[in-house]
Amino acid sequence: MTERSCLAIVLAAGEGTRMKSAKPKVLHEVAGLPLVCHAARAAQAAGQADLAIVAGRQSDEVLKAAARVAPSARLYLQHERLGTAHAVLAAREAIAEGHDDILVLFADTPLVEPQDIAFLRSGLADGAAVVVMGFYAADPTGYGRLLTEGDRLVAIREDKDCTQAERAVTFCNGGLMAIAGEHALSLLEAVGNDNAKGEYYLTDIVEVAAARGLAVVATTAEEESVLGVNTGVQLAEAEGVWQARKRREMMLAGVTLVAPETVHFSHDTQIGSDTIVEPNVVFGPGVSVGANVTIHSFSHLEGAIVADHAEIGPFARLRPGARLADKVKVGNFCEVKNADVATGAKINHLSYIGDAKVGAGANIGAGTITCNYDGFLKHLTQIGAGAFVGSNSALVAPVTIADGAYVASGSVITQDVPAGALAFGRARQENKDGLGTKLREKLKAQKEARAAPKG
Ligand code: UD1
Ligand code: MG
Repeated sequence: MTERSCLAIVLAAGEGTRMKSAKPKVLHEVAGLPLVCHAARAAQAAGQADLAIVAGRQSDEVLKAAARVAPSARLYLQHERLGTAHAVLAAREAIAEGHDDILVLFADTPLVEPQDIAFLRSGLADGAAVVVMGFYAADPTGYGRLLTEGDRLVAIREDKDCTQAERAVTFCNGGLMAIAGEHALSLLEAVGNDNAKGEYYLTDIVEVAAARGLAVVATTAEEESVLGVNTGVQLAEAEGVWQARKRREMMLAGVTLVAPETVHFSHDTQIGSDTIVEPNVVFGPGVSVGANVTIHSFSHLEGAIVADHAEIGPFARLRPGARLADKVKVGNFCEVKNADVATGAKINHLSYIGDAKVGAGANIGAGTITCNYDGFLKHLTQIGAGAFVGSNSALVAPVTIADGAYVASGSVITQDVPAGALAFGRARQENKDGLGTKLREKLKAQKEARAAPKG
């Protein structure tokens, strides 16, 4: 089947008014990835496909988003929104190139699985002219109904055009379709707009094809695979389904999720086997975690790379450019950003390490802060292998603490510290014998004088 050429057309020109948003609907995100990208990915996962995006409003942004997953996608504009068949014909030039299979996907339907698309295409390979993705709707209201005679699909009736009897049918159109390339243009051009909405319905090609004696069939997908996003509520529903699938995939790949429903993944999260993720952990985009890592509760990771056997959190924040090597520990209330942390280094409590390089086995004491920003520019802090930074130190970048150096607690380090040196960046302590007792007596007397009755 894979040797059949394929053009996937993603319809993204809808108004999306029910989102009540200034942003085009197809740019809203599920798992941190715009809806239009999910549709493009599904098409690609089902085999080599040339991709055409049909957009209306803010088409440049839509194409730019799609290019994140499909850099060679081509944009076609639908200037007037005259229906789904009209939208497909906006990509007429691409259809005319003569692909074997034409796939039509909706950009607002992000949960379609590769095997659903593979089924559609295999219908074409078996000789059908049109294959429709059907599903059994718990509530069919609003969907086009699939009207069958025996095994044959004879028509799709849009909800608004249904008779009472047709309305009772629960086998519905999921919206995705595969059309044999050799028939596509002639079927689409035969569609009229004599219906309740006065639109050119893509679904009408079923009746046209059936009347011409061409084979038309329906496949059956799960209802959740064809969930369409029209409102903010449905967007959250789609996110929920996506997350549930991803958690399952992770667990089946050997990742332990102690409380799966509390862990939030991104579209590109990667985690190695035998890693444990405790409850309430969030993965933003761009995170890759190795094997045998423990991520304790309430940690937030984004754009971070974590190698094997590391230990993160609880309450740790890894931001973009955090790169942690083997056996690194980043503990509670620590933030790491744009920093390479080498093997076995420890940043265990209440620290900010940003724009830094931390050497192997270095120990960063509680409350250490890299002062990386002067209000205009960011500067680098380098901490050598085996260095020890005492608690509550401020490292004012650019600054280097060389291998094996020792920084005394409470230091403000503004100059480089040579290898093996001990740096004090704080006022020297002085003890005055007996002065504590004297001070206490003086203060006590002052308090008593204030409390004494006046006059
Ligand atoms: C469509 C189907 C219906 C199916 C349902 C599944 C048709 C005529 N109807 O109905 O049978 O049950 O999806 O969710 O196809 N679009 C354009 N340009 C247009 C019109 C639509 O690009 O002129 C795009 C929309 O952005 C959307 C998709 O096509 O991605 C579907 O359009 P929509 O108006 O949502 O169709 P439905 O009424 O949901
Ligand atoms: Mg719709």
